[in-house]
Amino acid sequence: MDHFQYREGVLHAEDVSIPAIAAAVGTPFYCYSAATLTRHYRVFADALEGLDTRVCFSAKANGNLAVLRLLGNLGAGCDVVSGGELKRALAAGIPAEKIVFSGVGKTAEELALALDSGVGQINVESEAELNRLNDIASKVGQTAPIAFRVNPDVDAATHDKISTGRKEDKFGVAWEDAPRLYEVADALSGIDVRGVAVHIGSQITDLAPFETAFTKVAGLVENLRKAGIDIRTVDLGGGLGVPYKRDNTAPPSPAEYGDVVRRTVSNLGCTILFEPGRVIAANAGILVTKVVYVKPGETKEFVIVDAAMNDLVRPAMYDAHHDVLPVTEPNAGSAKKTIDIVGPVCETGDRFTRDATLSPLEEDDLIAFATAGAYGAVMASTYNTRPLVPEVMVNGDSFAIIRKRPAVEDLWALENLPDWMTDEN
Ligand code: LLP
Repeated sequence: MDHFQYREGVLHAEDVSIPAIAAAVGTPFYCYSAATLTRHYRVFADALEGLDTRVCFSAKANGNLAVLRLLGNLGAGCDVVSGGELKRALAAGIPAEKIVFSGVGKTAEELALALDSGVGQINVESEAELNRLNDIASKVGQTAPIAFRVNPDVDAATHDKISTGRKEDKFGVAWEDAPRLYEVADALSGIDVRGVAVHIGSQITDLAPFETAFTKVAGLVENLRKAGIDIRTVDLGGGLGVPYKRDNTAPPSPAEYGDVVRRTVSNLGCTILFEPGRVIAANAGILVTKVVYVKPGETKEFVIVDAAMNDLVRPAMYDAHHDVLPVTEPNAGSAKKTIDIVGPVCETGDRFTRDATLSPLEEDDLIAFATAGAYGAVMASTYNTRPLVPEVMVNGDSFAIIRKRPAVEDLWALENLPDWMTDEN
């Protein structure tokens, strides 16, 4: 459940009307609901009640400081995948020991930063990374707390571009090689082997791949312990899917996911880490945009809006669906049309809906794309010299701008004309 609902025919975020925010900040903008973020975090955490867990929100899904602070205040840690995200999580007030550092290509600088900051766990993805981390830690007389991210060779049955746990995917260490790597790591003085980590993909809507992967992880933990390696944590990653269509059968609930966790790894006596992103943030955010023009085409109508693929890239990148919510609720019986909602960017792929059957839209109408709170603002770019759009957080009957709209000049503020282009030379 989310807190984007119609009241007297007008879309609201909690108690604030979307037109009121649009009037104050202009369009397009992202709008998040604090109550929805809170609810989703609690539902997820409650599903794991009674287990020894640490829920580390995946900052890549939505890294805004206010979002991280809100979740941090509820007890969340953070899953980060770059030095930038690590600094962001710390800046948001997430305690370092609640931060997990994942990622397939951490640089020496990033590993040193992680050690220096005192992060709780570094998920190592290759032998080369292990050796580099050992060197860095040994030089400063520290031991790095690590898990290996293992690749369980499980197909998560999700979009090809967000499937990460098959052996042909770049992520994790090869399943067959994992026992040897644990032995190697255990002998290194700069390394403290803590756990096993796995993350098989994102927008997973079937529990079976989780069950297979977690069962394999549990078996590995038992084998490693037999080999004398003291495994204290298992990190099950993120990946639980969300409903992108309001009328769709819902993906498994956090409670059902929690049952899989209980069945597979709860008897290991480990602290269980989770890295959920989408399930917490996706349906806690919308992207609001305004109709610029309506253009009749030969076979359908094009509705051109002021948001574009640079603001929300998921439809262009993954053919992803985001429900369209007209900000003024159409009359129940109103006739529908076949509409493509498109942005102004010079790419055919800059299209939010294709042949959608929707109530007619007119110039200056506001619409919202739903389920945009995860992998929306974070994946935005300034393509076509379009400034990043603002982010707003609603809390009850008030709202705050949590990232302001930059001036267009900011987009070239770091650019420089070489001396040899100036008149004097
Ligand atoms: N942990 C790791 C190591 C990850 O790589 C990811 C996501 C997560 C956790 C969080 O997964 P979630 O709970 O959000 O499914 N841009 C794509 C999604 C890419 C996900 C990448 N990794 C999209 O817009 O669908």
